[in-house]
Amino acid sequence: MTSSLNMKNKILVTGGAGFLGSHLCGVLIKEGHDVLCVDNFFTGNKDNVNHLLLNPKFELMRHDVTFPLYVEVDQIYNLACPASPIHYQHDPVQTTKTSVHGAINMLGLAKRLNARILQASTSEVYGDPEVHPQTEDYWGRVNPIGIRSCYDEGKRCAETLFFDYWRQHQLEIKVMRIFNTYGPRMHPNDGRVVSNFIVQALKNESITIYGDGSQTRSFCYVDDLIGGMKKLMESDKAITGPINIGNPNEFTMLELAELVLKLTSSHSKLTFKSLPEDDPKQRQPDISLAKAKLDWEPKIKLEDGLKETIAYFRKLLQT
Ligand SMILES: NC(=O)c1ccc[n+]([C@@H]2O[C@H](COP(=O)([O-])OP(=O)(O)OC[C@H]3O[C@@H](n4cnc5c(N)ncnc54)[C@H](O)[C@@H]3O)[C@@H](O)[C@H]2O)c1
Repeated sequence: MTSSLNMKNKILVTGGAGFLGSHLCGVLIKEGHDVLCVDNFFTGNKDNVNHLLLNPKFELMRHDVTFPLYVEVDQIYNLACPASPIHYQHDPVQTTKTSVHGAINMLGLAKRLNARILQASTSEVYGDPEVHPQTEDYWGRVNPIGIRSCYDEGKRCAETLFFDYWRQHQLEIKVMRIFNTYGPRMHPNDGRVVSNFIVQALKNESITIYGDGSQTRSFCYVDDLIGGMKKLMESDKAITGPINIGNPNEFTMLELAELVLKLTSSHSKLTFKSLPEDDPKQRQPDISLAKAKLDWEPKIKLEDGLKETIAYFRKLLQT
């Protein structure tokens, strides 16, 4: 079986019932592909793909990627992995297993099928970086024994496996380093800053800022991110990545909090708590490679993306 990219394909999306996966499944279905969504519902849920369940081109399968999977597909997007510290630290051994055994199982499947495979890697592979903004050739500064290591090192090992399958078995791989992404269907209590601020603001509860709020993050809206993911999957075989996909516009946590307060017309006050262990001070993608190789850059402004996200959470909190 080959990954003929101009035809309608049967596409496997692991972690497809999660935040990013559910948006990806929706886009692929719209394009006429058959989508097999595989998820163990650890952080994802059926509500995220409810709108797709009656579509005959969509199939949902409960499965844990740490176990082998025998299906027939043309392409694989490997997104299965809890993405927020609260969730990935809940069962750190399982987190490493999901990244590493999950990658081994999906790469084994891709090899058997000669299918193209994309890995949802992360900016966390850069750790607490000394280089700013981060380019793909920076090797990172990761603590191998800290509380975030199950995620960071798991994802780093998954990248290693992808490149070894490419070198050893000539598999068509695509490694995407995703930076902070936000949008509708984020988990409401996963402790990620955008969802945290929005939920606190909508409930008029105080907004928690870690540290003094001067640490910066860049936020990419989910539609931009999925556009970049698809462009990478459909790119020339020679483009393996790793390639950064994210929005380089930086905001301090204080700026983000103020924008959320304005857009929600909230009366919430700000409260300050100490920074969590290993929390990076700055994180910003250098996306020159994505621009040059994929002709991709994010288009959606933070304010516009936040409005969509706030509308989603407003509805969620009412139900
Ligand atoms: N959202 C971001 O800002 C971001 C940033 C960097 C990287 N990523 C990566 O993108 C991917 C998707 O992230 P997300 O934000 O949608 O997170 P998410 O938690 O919403 O989605 C992950 C999905 O994987 C599923 N899953 C977890 N372990 C599994 C297992 N063992 N077997 C099968 N399914 C499993 C979960 O149930 C969930 O549906 C992850 O691999 C994450 O590391 C996301």
